[in-house]
Amino acid sequence: MPEIAILPERCTRCGACAALCTGRVFRQEPDRIVVADPAACWLCGHCVAVCPVDALLHSDYSLEDCPPLDPARLPPLDALEMALRARRSARVFRDRPVPREVIRELLEVGRWAPSASNAQPVDWLALDDPARIAALSAQSVAVLAHTARLLRNPLIRFLLRLTVGAEPVRKGLESVPDFERLAQRHAQGEDPIFFRAPVVLIAHVPRDDYFGREDATYAAYNVMLAASLRGLGTCHIGYFTVALARSARLRAALGLPPDRRAVIAMTLGYPRHRFHRLLPRRAPALAWNP
Ligand SMILES: Cc1cc2nc3c(=O)[nH]c(=O)nc-3n(C[C@H](O)[C@H](O)[C@H](O)COP(=O)(O)O)c2cc1C
Ligand code: SF4
Ligand code: SF4
Repeated sequence: MPEIAILPERCTRCGACAALCTGRVFRQEPDRIVVADPAACWLCGHCVAVCPVDALLHSDYSLEDCPPLDPARLPPLDALEMALRARRSARVFRDRPVPREVIRELLEVGRWAPSASNAQPVDWLALDDPARIAALSAQSVAVLAHTARLLRNPLIRFLLRLTVGAEPVRKGLESVPDFERLAQRHAQGEDPIFFRAPVVLIAHVPRDDYFGREDATYAAYNVMLAASLRGLGTCHIGYFTVALARSARLRAALGLPPDRRAVIAMTLGYPRHRFHRLLPRRAPALAWNP
């Protein structure tokens, strides 16, 4: 249980900490705010972040670790939108290594993403050994090509429909030509999974974490944006996670402990080409009070 205290000589009784605390840890009395139920604290940190006079002391959030928020340093919305629109998936990389220090800095930015219950469960594997990356790519292609062969077999399709149902088999069949093309390109000497990127980053979460994939997605997107602003390119590699889901051998090759599961893979490197235009995107449908 955290230790939480309010410094009475500083507190202005504005009530902000009590209003934001979803744990209902504080109780507002006519002349003061009291810490009524610290055991209900779920460590969101909002009380410390909202107190305008540093009157709130929380053992998990020392003021040293919570620097002042200077609104003047936030980017204007149009600058943020430009950064979001300028990010592109990179699949052609320069033959230039990414310093490990830069990778550490980018993963630091991933920390500021939201996570379910503020659990912050995302950890990373970083691969910068070309032989290791090439081996994982080859293994992934083999897994996907094998899946395609199975799905092409009418008897296996029939059995799969009986066991997993018609819909997953129909969906799987849609991917068969893609998987076959990947195998062809690999046979011709390409790396169709990681594009010979100098670095592959893999986000992993506790195996039984219900929201782990969502948490990793937010963290990974932070990293992607930070990389883009540092002149680096990234690409989310879904084919790798599709292959991982189908192969215990591939999962073992990552060397993760059994209680962790890899959920996001992305390439990282200096892109060979610069983009000169932003691209349009489908405007999402919006229904009000449907
Ligand atoms: C969930 C997900 C999986 C993806 N998997 C792959 C992949 O396996 N290989 C690849 O080249 N790109 C992959 N991408 C990148 C998308 O193709 C790319 O984001 C999309 O075409 C939009 O282009 P942009 O990122 O340049 O804006 C993936 C993206 C997402 C969000
Ligand atoms: S950290 Fe969050 S849950 Fe805990 S006391 Fe502060 S506001 Fe309430
Ligand atoms: S936010 Fe700070 S000043 Fe306001 S009531 Fe809470 S402790 Fe006091």
